Amino acid sequence: MDHFLYRDGQLFAEDVSVAEIAAAVGTPFYVYSTATLERHFKLFDEALDGVPHLVCFAMKSLSNQAVLKVLAAAGAGMDVVSGGEYYRAKAAGVAGDKIVFSGVGKTVDEMRMALTGGIRQFNVESEPEMEVLSAVAVALGVLAPITIRVNPDVDAKTHAKIATGKSENKFGIPISRARAVYKMAAELPGLKVIGIDVHIGSQLTDLAPFEAAYLKVADLVAVLRADGHAIERLDLGGGLGIPYARSNDAPPLPVDYGKMIKRTLGHLDCEIEIEPGRLISGNAGLMVSKVIYVKEGEDREFLIIDGAMNDLIRPAMYDAYHDIVPVVEPEVAAEPAKYDIVGPVCESGDTFAKAREMARVGAGDLVAFRSAGAYGAVMSSEYNSRPMIPEVLVHGDQFAVIRARPTYEEMIARDTIPEWLA
Ligand code: LLP
Repeated sequence: MDHFLYRDGQLFAEDVSVAEIAAAVGTPFYVYSTATLERHFKLFDEALDGVPHLVCFAMKSLSNQAVLKVLAAAGAGMDVVSGGEYYRAKAAGVAGDKIVFSGVGKTVDEMRMALTGGIRQFNVESEPEMEVLSAVAVALGVLAPITIRVNPDVDAKTHAKIATGKSENKFGIPISRARAVYKMAAELPGLKVIGIDVHIGSQLTDLAPFEAAYLKVADLVAVLRADGHAIERLDLGGGLGIPYARSNDAPPLPVDYGKMIKRTLGHLDCEIEIEPGRLISGNAGLMVSKVIYVKEGEDREFLIIDGAMNDLIRPAMYDAYHDIVPVVEPEVAAEPAKYDIVGPVCESGDTFAKAREMARVGAGDLVAFRSAGAYGAVMSSEYNSRPMIPEVLVHGDQFAVIRARPTYEEMIARDTIPEWLA
């Protein structure tokens, strides 16, 4: 569910007309709904009612400071994967003890930053990382709380580029080696082992792979406890998928995910952490774009819009499907048109949809990409020297620009000319 509905023939974001935002900020732009962000966070939080838990938003999916503040105020922790994300989380007012640090390639500087600024735990992914983290902690005179990410070797049945739980992926340590790696961690002077971490992939539309992984984690808890490790916390990662197309079968709901977690792990007396990103932010955002031209091809019509692959790369990168709808509500009886919907960037990969049936639109009309809140703005670039597009946050009948569109002057200001060219 989201808060982007037609009202009196116009698409609204909560109580603000999308066309009104477009008139104020220009196109293309991203717009997010505060109510949807809050609602989705709450669904996860309530799904884990009855067990000690923390929902850590995977802020890689959407990391604007205003969005982080909305979620932090709702009670979210943050899952960060870089020094930059850690810095953003702290700047948004998230306490260190609500931040978990994930990722296969944490650097010494990032470890130092988190250990001095405060951290709930590091999700460690390899022996060399453990050794480095221990040394950094010892040098600072502190203990680094860690979970170790295990790779359960289950097939998440998702797009190959976002599956992480098979042994061929770079993530975690093979679960078969877990005992040895936990032993090594326990012997390192700078580490405090507190739990287990697992994350098997993103955009999962079935609970079965999660359940298979969590059952393996439950077995591992018993084995590691018997080895003398204090396993108090289980970080179960993110990955629950969202419906991208209205016609699709809906993926499982957070409440059912929560029930499955309680069924598989609830008896272990562990604190549960989850790291959802997409399900919180995905359907909380639209990308809004304007039709520049409708071009007649040999055998098809092209809708050339002012948004491009640099603004929303998911279709080009993962063949991802996004619903694309006109901002003016189409007449129910109107005959649909069929378009290849493309951006202005000079490569054929800059294609959002092929032979897409949608209501007929014309030059100057606005279209909205649904489900664009997650991995949209955060993956954008200024390729083709197209300035980063603005982000707007709606709250009831108010809206505000939360990242402005840079001018061309601002866009080039970070380039510097060496002396010999001046
Ligand atoms: N935790 C870890 C350790 C992760 O690697 C990820 C996502 C998440 C949590 C959050 O997963 P989510 O709940 O959002 O599925 N750019 C791709 C998605 C990459 C996901 C990377 N890791 C896309 O646009 O589909």
